[in-house]
Amino acid sequence: MVSIRQANVNDLLQMQTTNLWCLPENYQMKYYFYHLLSWPQLLWVAEDFDGKIVGYVLAKMEEDSSQPRHGHITSLSVLRTHRKRGIATALMRRSQKEMQDVFSAQYVSLHVRKSNRAAFHLYSVTLSYQVHDVEKGYYADGEDAYDMRCYFAKEEEHAEGPVEEMKQMQVSA
Ligand SMILES: CC(C)(COP(=O)(O)OP(=O)(O)OC[C@H]1O[C@@H](n2cnc3c(N)ncnc32)[C@H](O)[C@@H]1OP(=O)(O)O)[C@@H](O)C(=O)NCCC(=O)NCCS
Repeated sequence: MVSIRQANVNDLLQMQTTNLWCLPENYQMKYYFYHLLSWPQLLWVAEDFDGKIVGYVLAKMEEDSSQPRHGHITSLSVLRTHRKRGIATALMRRSQKEMQDVFSAQYVSLHVRKSNRAAFHLYSVTLSYQVHDVEKGYYADGEDAYDMRCYFAKEEEHAEGPVEEMKQMQVSA
């Protein structure tokens, strides 16, 4: 069984290790601390039965006051051994929920490689993100990025039930 829970300082090293296994975009530990200290509600991990972190979402609020208030997914990954079980979907939904409830975000943005079919399916089909723009040569190796956004439904459109369910969500593994 895999549990989805809010990340704490003891998780940061395993989050960084998971990131190193899964993605070429890597960050110094101080960048993880910066996220945790600034927006602790937006960092979530998937923890296996033995306490091992098998997935994480690292997210933040953008501080550009010329734009409507919005969140940004800095990084997301799930270990290869635990993919296609709904873990990334659960992590994303949890962080997005906090962006709305805690920070009154109107939408969430992210970048994804054009060639990343798994992530593009997750964002566009599962989570209803739309392509806002294409950023040419965004990545260090020259690959283009889709700049994607997902606009949140207004408060009165939220359903009550699933939120409580998600608080202690467990994913079969
Ligand atoms: C992208 C990633 C986070 C998805 O994690 P996951 O836990 O396997 O995703 P989920 O199980 O929640 O699947 C979500 C959806 O994506 C689909 N999906 C997952 N992997 C897929 C793949 N390889 N090809 C096509 N679709 C895929 C699932 O079938 C599911 O679709 P559905 O909702 O229509 O049934 C994971 O593959 C990963 O860590 N990749 C490497 C790091 C990465 O690319 N991060 C994103 C950077 S922007």
